[in-house]
Amino acid sequence: MKISVAGTGYVGLVTAVCLAEKGNDVTCLDIDEDKISLLQKGISPIFEPGLEELMKKNKDNITYTNDYLKAYNDAQVIIIGVGTPEKKDGSANLKYVYEVARQIAQTVEHDCVVIVKSTVPVGTNDKVEQIIRENKKNNIFIEVVSNPEFLSQGTAVKDTLHATRIVLGVESKNAESTLREMYNNFNIPIVVTDRRSAEMIKYAANDFLALKISYINEMANLCEIVGANIDDVAKGMGMDPRIGDRFLNAGIGYGGSCFPKDTKALHWLASFNDYELKTVKAAIEVNENQKIKLIKKSRKYFDSFNGLNIAVLGLTFKPGTDDLRDAPSLVNIPLLIEDGAHVKAWDPVGADNFRKLFPDEIHYCESIEETLVNADICFIFTEWTEIKNFPLNKFKKLMRNPLILDGRNCYPLTEAEEAGLIYESIGRKKVN
Ligand code: UDX
Repeated sequence: MKISVAGTGYVGLVTAVCLAEKGNDVTCLDIDEDKISLLQKGISPIFEPGLEELMKKNKDNITYTNDYLKAYNDAQVIIIGVGTPEKKDGSANLKYVYEVARQIAQTVEHDCVVIVKSTVPVGTNDKVEQIIRENKKNNIFIEVVSNPEFLSQGTAVKDTLHATRIVLGVESKNAESTLREMYNNFNIPIVVTDRRSAEMIKYAANDFLALKISYINEMANLCEIVGANIDDVAKGMGMDPRIGDRFLNAGIGYGGSCFPKDTKALHWLASFNDYELKTVKAAIEVNENQKIKLIKKSRKYFDSFNGLNIAVLGLTFKPGTDDLRDAPSLVNIPLLIEDGAHVKAWDPVGADNFRKLFPDEIHYCESIEETLVNADICFIFTEWTEIKNFPLNKFKKLMRNPLILDGRNCYPLTEAEEAGLIYESIGRKKVN
């Protein structure tokens, strides 16, 4: 099939490459010239395991261009995968989606199907269809389908090629059969519904996962107060298949490009329709507080960070990505700096992006050891494998004061204690 994909971010690029892998002829379009020239050289502008290998393997099936006339000219399917960033009021900014819809209408001269893959509020697909209808050149038939993605950063290729489900929000049998043909080789269960329900499935799924995280974080906070251990509580809960054992890791809250944005966008949409989405609102509030949980814990040991040497391990919102969007490090590090701390930081892939935001205020280290030398406190914000595998006895050897504030529960409590550390994690305080 001839497919064009507008937007080469996580959603657009990964979708495009996976569709090429399945034998389709794919054109990737982006307005960003730098991104396109990188892609033309075979370099991915995003850090995503396995992606560059697949780009290379399928290079004869993928074209990268800035020219939308060329991209839309003879495509049977056009996928919209552009960003829907958060606006100041929490709602999703749809201007990029609508701009692409307008360009498609003004360019295409043949019948085709337009897929909205970007995460968009309920009703957006209707608006996209309306824009296309009002702007299209001649009497051609363009159908709009909602087909949200569920990929996670760091496992995006696997999540796309082996997705748990494909959701199709269609308004006609013709659109459904085009999409079924496109996904024919994927061998993944397909849920067919109307467009609004498909749009809703994406938000409902993401917000439920965010809620699950905030729930386990609140349980962790209560465990600390009453002297229970969240590891065991989560294990005991997760063995019930109705609950499931995933997304029950307590920590310093969720970040990333989806959960923070999608919880706020759904809450905004509900409020706009005079409905208060109480559970999602609570998930957002809990997460905001959770992000500064370690700073609050540190107050037990130090009134101020002024003049202290602080080691930070992990900057990204989760391991396996260089993405910093809504990462807890972005909330915590400015608080430490403002208070006069000397901050040294290490992250295996996120440091360069962090340096763009904080070029001079932080000393970036090449190794965990270098970061820990002479530190008074070590904050752990991301559970990178290198951090989890780091020998605990080295903390005591290298630091001036072995206080570890672990926001991702990287180490077993007993081992941390045996290594002589002052170790604070999330939800695992022992009864004294
Ligand atoms: C998420 C969804 O998982 C994905 O389906 C959707 O398409 C996009 O949003 P992503 O943002 O890439 O994917 O990361 P994810 O692995 O879901 O983690 C999001 C955040 O939640 C991270 O900050 C992570 O540290 C946190 N998290 C996750 C927890 O704090 N505890 C958990 O148990 C799981």
